[in-house]
Amino acid sequence: MCAIKYEEVPLGRVNLSHRRPTNLKRFWYGAAYYPEHWDEATRARDAERMAAAGMNVVRMAEFAADLMEPRQGEYDFSLFDETSAKLGEKGVHTIMCTPTAAPARWLTRDCPEILRVNADGKTMQHGSRQHCCHASPVLRQWSRAITQKMAEHYRDNPFVIGWQTDNEFHCHFSECHCPNCQKAFVEFLRHKYENDIGKLNTAWGTAFWALTFERFEDITTPKPDLPAYENPAWRLDYCRYLAHTVATFQHEQVAILRENNPDWFVMHNGVIFSHLDNLGLLGQDIDFHGYDCYPFFLADPDERGHTQASGLNRARACGGNFIIPEMQSGPGGQKPYLQNNPEPGEMRKMALLSVAHGADSLLHFRWRTCRFGAEEYWCGILDHDNVPRRRYEEAAQQGRELAVIGSKILGTHVFVDAAVAYTDMEVNDSHNSYPLGLPAPGKVAEDCHRQLWQRGMAVGYVHPLDDLAGIKLYVIPHLAYFDPAWLQNLTRFVENGGTLVIGARTATRDVNNNVVGETLPGALQSLAGITVEEYGRQNEPVKRLLSIDLGGALVPSTLWYEILEPKGKATRLYPWRGRHLDGRCAVSLNQVDKGRVVYAGTYFDDPVFSALLPELIRLSGLQPAWPGLPPRVEAVLRTDGKKNIWFFFNHSDDTVTIPSLPRGKELTTGKNTDGTYELPRYGVAVIDAFGNQ
Ligand code: GAL
Ligand code: ZN
Repeated sequence: MCAIKYEEVPLGRVNLSHRRPTNLKRFWYGAAYYPEHWDEATRARDAERMAAAGMNVVRMAEFAADLMEPRQGEYDFSLFDETSAKLGEKGVHTIMCTPTAAPARWLTRDCPEILRVNADGKTMQHGSRQHCCHASPVLRQWSRAITQKMAEHYRDNPFVIGWQTDNEFHCHFSECHCPNCQKAFVEFLRHKYENDIGKLNTAWGTAFWALTFERFEDITTPKPDLPAYENPAWRLDYCRYLAHTVATFQHEQVAILRENNPDWFVMHNGVIFSHLDNLGLLGQDIDFHGYDCYPFFLADPDERGHTQASGLNRARACGGNFIIPEMQSGPGGQKPYLQNNPEPGEMRKMALLSVAHGADSLLHFRWRTCRFGAEEYWCGILDHDNVPRRRYEEAAQQGRELAVIGSKILGTHVFVDAAVAYTDMEVNDSHNSYPLGLPAPGKVAEDCHRQLWQRGMAVGYVHPLDDLAGIKLYVIPHLAYFDPAWLQNLTRFVENGGTLVIGARTATRDVNNNVVGETLPGALQSLAGITVEEYGRQNEPVKRLLSIDLGGALVPSTLWYEILEPKGKATRLYPWRGRHLDGRCAVSLNQVDKGRVVYAGTYFDDPVFSALLPELIRLSGLQPAWPGLPPRVEAVLRTDGKKNIWFFFNHSDDTVTIPSLPRGKELTTGKNTDGTYELPRYGVAVIDAFGNQ
């Protein structure tokens, strides 16, 4: 049995740019397909119907371990062989999946030690999914064996084009405190701290509350609040351990798949879940990420345009363009809920929005709604009775449109010139380890992103280490966890003319997740040109009012204040009003070479950020992506520098008139644009622009 190797790539290495296109040569369009849920008579017409809807791919087998290996070492791939052959004849290819999110019952029966244990000590059971521990040597051995068998079996199959590893790592929960994890966590730490327990004690600050460890083997996984608060450095290393464990679990599968057929692409449909090192080992191992897109988790239709765009942009921050292995195709339903039904045209709008924001292929979830099991009401393109209705017609319309659009957008990236810092796993975990009741940086980032989006800006999320060229305005909300290694890239961005906006509390914690000892804002002191002389939390009810004075207009601060002291050439942009802060610096401006840094000594809640935004836009020279759009119409540009494909979406409930569009060919109608353009409710225009517009 092979032990987990900890010499793998370190966590969080960023060289996957948000501008990276996928390496796909063809736009794949299709659906997640579960032949194991249907009898032959029901399946009989599937291939023909898929092909008629313009589909050229399905994803299969991620939950079929019981069928493919009914007893240990006895393999039966016949259903998938037969299905992929039948589909292949009609031009529908297959993305295979490793079925490791739900092993067969014989494995959990014979080796119950593979089951996960939660922080309360409860052992998971067979019957749903994600109940097995990624650190379990037994699970890993089985994972390698089934991956090897499947890879050998399908390596010469002309219809199998690529793979998905597992399914949505950490979707349900990610912690594990089983005996395997106790051992593996110790090994992880031993490797990280070079077998020197003194180094660990210093890094974690174990002098506090007699935490000092004498030996690595005495360390356990941290269980929150037993009875009082845990050490945040211990917690962050545990989160890193979880991320590393799942990444090395995937790594073993990827190595086998690549060895068997280097032409296959390999992806994983995770990205949004916690403790995933999307920019590090997990992301570096795969060709591109998969992002499962379900905008209807949000009940308010007015918010879905932005939240979908935001989710897609977050996915793109993790390594560029991606594919959508699961795109909402009907209302989702599980035991406690059933989402709203997408109205006619809405499914298409959502699918094309995904393409605009970086999807280089797209599969609907799912082909047909299942009649049994935990997701009986997770609605697919076909209903339970297998009768094609409006969702099928709409899917077919998309098939026709994507046949034209798909080939045009491959090789392009999404244009952004405004960006909010992508809050990576360590930023989020650090915040969660010590939130002080403040909003999470990821949440504030989303709010800032929304405000820029509402003003029509070409906004995305970009990691501080990523390529910031071409970005005019870059906002770092409140990244308490801040790696000083990010500083050089940010400095270059500012020197080259960028406007960097930093929110309070940024760079207050170090990479061990302890509070920094330097005067705040720590590593950012010289770039921002300030020191923080005093800070304080503001709690409800906020009766001692503090406001930022924007030339007479007072904007209340309600969560946090900092008194700033500008140094050198830095100046006070806006002063505080109220209490002992009156007249002191609230927001500073530091001109650095061709660019500038704005530091705000408060939290970017909606009133504060919207009040600051006009000046930030002015300073940075930012312009809307496309001028003159009516409210709630979104423009997105995909470009490779030469060709420009513009997307326009009507997120409002009414027909809107757009005064002018880029001149070019509208790809869903085939007609040239000329003058004004009407977009009905859920309307989309996709324009292959003439020349360089
Ligand atoms: C995803 C998952 C699918 C299915 C779908 C609907 O999270 O990958 O297997 O569960 O959601 O809930
Ligand atoms: Zn475990």
